[in-house]
Amino acid sequence: MDTKPYIIANWKMNLDGSSTDRFLRTFNFADEAVRKSNVIIAPSLVQVSQVCAAVADTSVAVAGQDIYWEDSGAFTGEVSASQLVDAGASFVIIGHSERRTLFGETDAQVHLKALQAIKRKLRPIVCFGESYAEKEAGETKRIIRQRVTSICEELRAADVRRVILAYEPLWAISTSHDVETPMADSPESAQVIHKLIRKIVEELYGEQVATEIRILYGGSVDPDNVGGYASMDDIDGVLVGGASKDAHTFQKLITNYISASS
Ligand code: PGA
Repeated sequence: MDTKPYIIANWKMNLDGSSTDRFLRTFNFADEAVRKSNVIIAPSLVQVSQVCAAVADTSVAVAGQDIYWEDSGAFTGEVSASQLVDAGASFVIIGHSERRTLFGETDAQVHLKALQAIKRKLRPIVCFGESYAEKEAGETKRIIRQRVTSICEELRAADVRRVILAYEPLWAISTSHDVETPMADSPESAQVIHKLIRKIVEELYGEQVATEIRILYGGSVDPDNVGGYASMDDIDGVLVGGASKDAHTFQKLITNYISASS
């Protein structure tokens, strides 16, 4: 079983060719903490090939930020799973809250995309979380159960193992479109939700799959607070937005994760 933590850089619609180049020249790929982690960079689609070429001989992998669920065809503006694989990516982020809230993606579409990713041998990193209003209404656990069940539905146990789940409360994302003053979830309260997620997976697929599935936390993770998440039993890594755009900051975050977890 792969026990290295997953530390994922979600660059969103940031970094152009030259800032990507600067990041890639500054980041120390040979660093021990990097090699002890599954570091994955998710650049914007235009930069996927550039990042893939730069990380080819390193332990770092590349993710797309989205795919469409069809193999090919007249779907202007979309990218297929096979096209991402062809460009060198091995993972894809699916169902990020920005896609759900700004572009109206539904649980059903997220599920279709996850299935398509698996079919085309891309590992899906599927995001979900509750809004502030849902949290205040005491709906968090119900929402999480519904989303996790919908993501896992119809997948074979072997396929579920390839899915990486990312719990990202909408109100915790540093550039939140949900609240004016975002705030990281505390490691302790994130742990409670992660434990619930693992329990839901266990109910659906049994103990072995629940132990193997990787569950990441995302939302305002930075080098200073990452250690708290790293030390939680059911948190297997982090999905990082803002703090992943600068090579030094991201490197420090990885170093601090590894030192807190060892
Ligand atoms: P953040 O973003 O680290 O800037 O909060 C996380 C995400 O949206 O995936």
